[in-house]
Amino acid sequence: MQSWEELEQSCRGCTNCGLCQGRNNVVFGVGNRNADILFVGEGPGEQEDLQGEPFVGPAGKLLDDMLSIIDLDRTVCYIGNIVKCRPPRNRDPQDAEQEACIGYLRKQIELIQPKIIVCLGRIAATRLIRPDYRITREHGQWVEKDGIWMTATYHPSALLRDVTKRPDAFKDLLSIRQMMRKLNMNR
Ligand code: URA
Repeated sequence: MQSWEELEQSCRGCTNCGLCQGRNNVVFGVGNRNADILFVGEGPGEQEDLQGEPFVGPAGKLLDDMLSIIDLDRTVCYIGNIVKCRPPRNRDPQDAEQEACIGYLRKQIELIQPKIIVCLGRIAATRLIRPDYRITREHGQWVEKDGIWMTATYHPSALLRDVTKRPDAFKDLLSIRQMMRKLNMNR
């Protein structure tokens, strides 16, 4: 298996898709590499591209608040994205771009070996749980895949745009905390 260092180095030099042309930084991922819980977003926005870290813009502030609701912070979980380079004007990453990049996330998952993966929004859920995943209908439900418990909730950007989704996201967070307890995760 590739080491973290090898993986990070190859990802930082990646030219697998056109997104590499517009990037300031590859946004590899942050957090605890031994985490029991992994959160996966869609792709870097403007601030993430400038700073090289996931979820540091307005959506990131909300993600931090969401983590604190379930007694987590960035030091105990790992946070990554489906694509590591910013799509222009924050458009959805295209299928070909996701295909070109997903291998990095899959290797991150192999190295971390999380017990839980939380997909943040539709793009992560359709890529990691099921291609026809419907976030509005299925958020908060759990599936076990390859020994990892997986769920999805609304993307923090969606919760910034539409506050009426927040009570549902809150329930999803409580369900994540319940699953963490069930799996004997202390945090
Ligand atoms: N939105 C995402 O999906 N990921 C980030 O890293 C930032 C915003």
